[in-house]
Amino acid sequence: MTSFRIAVLISGTGTNLQALLDQLHSPGGPIEIVGVASSRSEAMGLRRAEAAGVESAVFPLADYEDRGARDRALGDWLDSLGVELVVLAGFMELLTPEFIGRFRDRIVNVHPSLLPAFPGLRAIERALEAEVERTGVTVHFVDEGVDTGPIVLQEALELSYPADIAEIEERVHGVEHRLLPRAVRQIAAERSRDE
Ligand code: GRF
Repeated sequence: MTSFRIAVLISGTGTNLQALLDQLHSPGGPIEIVGVASSRSEAMGLRRAEAAGVESAVFPLADYEDRGARDRALGDWLDSLGVELVVLAGFMELLTPEFIGRFRDRIVNVHPSLLPAFPGLRAIERALEAEVERTGVTVHFVDEGVDTGPIVLQEALELSYPADIAEIEERVHGVEHRLLPRAVRQIAAERSRDE
C-alpha cells in the first residue's frame, strides 16, 4: 500500500495540525503527514510536529527576497517530499498565484465561516457583529481568490444572542477539528480511487 502524502502549513498554535496528527496520520499507513511547514519559527505547531516525529521546516518571508522566492523554496521543499495534498491549517499568509498554480487542486484550507459568507480575516467576529443565525466551518480548495475555491465540506453551527465570543470560538474550533480530518480523508479516498 502506498500512503497518501500530505503536508500541513501553519503559522501558530496548530490545534488543527494536532487533530490531523491524532485522527489521520499513520507512517506508512493510508495517510501520512510527511512534512509541516511554518511561516514563523516560534509557532507552537512546530513542537507538535516534532513530538509526532514529522519533518518540519520554517519559511519566514523575511529570509527571502520576496514572496515569490519564498513560495518557490516552499514549493521545492513540498515537491522533494512527494506531497500530494497541501493543507493550510492556520497558515496566516497569502500564497502567490504561481504557488497556487503549481499545486492546482492540491491545496485545501479550513476557514471559520460558512463560505461564501465572511471570507478573509476575523470571520467569527464579523459573523457575530452581523448577528447571523448560523455560522460554521468550511474546508475548501484554494484558488487565487480570498477563500473562494470549490467547497469540500461545510458544517453549520446555530447561534443565539447575546453571544459570548470566546465560547463561540471554542465551538467553531471543535467543528474544525472534526471537519478538516474528514475532508482530507474524503479527498484521499477519492484520489486513490482515481489512480
Ligand atoms: C483556525 O481557526 C482556522 O480556521 C484559521 O486559523 C485558525 C488556526 O488555529 N484559519 P490552529 O493554529 O489550528 O490552532
